[in-house]
Amino acid sequence: MTIAQRTESVVASKEDAGSKILRHASLLSGQLQQLRMRMYPPKSEKMLRQFLTNEVSKLTSIPDSTLKLMSSEGRGPVPSRLENNHRVYTLSQVNELRELFAAQKPSDALRFLPRRREGEHLQVLAIANFKGGSAKTTTCVHLAHYLAMHGYRVLALDLDPQASLSALFGAQPEMDVGANETIYAALRYDDAERRPIRDIIRKTYFDGVDLIPGNLEVMEYEHETPRVLANRSGSGAIFFERLKLALAEVENDYDVVILDTPPSLGFLTLSAIYAATSMIITVHPAMLDVASMSQFLLMMGDLISVLNESGGQLDQDFIRYLVTRHNPNDAPQSQVVAMLRHLFGPDVLLPTAIESTAVEAAGLAKRSIYELEMGQLGRDTHKRAREAVDAVNEAIVGLLNKSWGRP
Ligand SMILES: Nc1ncnc2c1ncn2[C@@H]1O[C@H](COP(=O)(O)OP(=O)(O)OP(=O)(O)O)[C@@H](O)[C@H]1O
Ligand SMILES: [Mg+2]
Repeated sequence: MTIAQRTESVVASKEDAGSKILRHASLLSGQLQQLRMRMYPPKSEKMLRQFLTNEVSKLTSIPDSTLKLMSSEGRGPVPSRLENNHRVYTLSQVNELRELFAAQKPSDALRFLPRRREGEHLQVLAIANFKGGSAKTTTCVHLAHYLAMHGYRVLALDLDPQASLSALFGAQPEMDVGANETIYAALRYDDAERRPIRDIIRKTYFDGVDLIPGNLEVMEYEHETPRVLANRSGSGAIFFERLKLALAEVENDYDVVILDTPPSLGFLTLSAIYAATSMIITVHPAMLDVASMSQFLLMMGDLISVLNESGGQLDQDFIRYLVTRHNPNDAPQSQVVAMLRHLFGPDVLLPTAIESTAVEAAGLAKRSIYELEMGQLGRDTHKRAREAVDAVNEAIVGLLNKSWGRP
């Protein structure tokens, strides 16, 4: 064999870049699947912890003593007992209690069952920012859990092909979400394949939260939309209206829809902003992140003008900035937070999402802070994190209530 021939055969056997990347993708995906099977075997599907009497009392405003009395008299849902004999309720039992008390005391029903009433519109809350890692998904999952624990009916919608929100709800994008099972199914332009949004909504293990999962398929919308726009093809509404119209079909089933958007300003994010009745822009208080947010706002402003010109009116009850992964002891961060507050005043939510090892550890275990049992982490760390997350959620719920005209 001549040198030239040898080189040729080496070159021929050398893997090209595309094959190599595909091979790596398949290796990694296999490995991740194995890890997942070890950590979450299919039989041990995600389950929600149970709630101790004092927590149930705080969540429902039903006194501790009343709960204990009901339980010993055999009235209402029957709690299980822990080894130490403490009573624990499932979230679905907590919701049963809510219904019971709301029915017993109609004048005070709103306190027990805060669902929206006649005349109060569905809130569609988009969590957005094209800066990756600004805690959009973490904010979504904590808000969804908080709302459900307080008796609201929530639809969580994963618009991100990375599908981290779906994974947090136990729907692994590669394993559990098949073709035509993401929001793309309800938005797509071909009549034959399009599905009603109701058909793609799934119940989750978290009572009160339904999910529309995401996976890579949602990217199809980014590819199809320009084609349809260029050819003036595709049936139904213009791209930015499709999500809003789809959500209108299930309007009566929910109080709040939470939209987790991808870190990009594509057609899906734009549809989310258009469908939204309110928006939270998450921002990590670092100069680079703020610079990127400035670009995001400029681009969004431009796009909103384009929407307005095409006859789409944005109608939002509130837009707020939420400072995320905030370390109050970090001087440069404090400067950025002070600057944001100076520039945007009350549009920056007062409570901030404090950086916390508990939130991070929960995230790694694909959980929210609300799902961890007290004692799974240091008690103080857990308590502090929970209080910080609660404060953010309380502020958002305050805004939702205000938009419903509640005191
Ligand atoms: N308060 C917090 N304390 C500690 N870690 C946090 C906190 N909030 C978020 N994180 C972590 O930061 C990382 C990024 O968060 P997250 O996935 O929510 O961001 P994102 O904006 O949704 O990202 P992407 O743009 O990729 O969708 C995650 O590992 C998450 O666990
Ligand atoms: Mg995300």
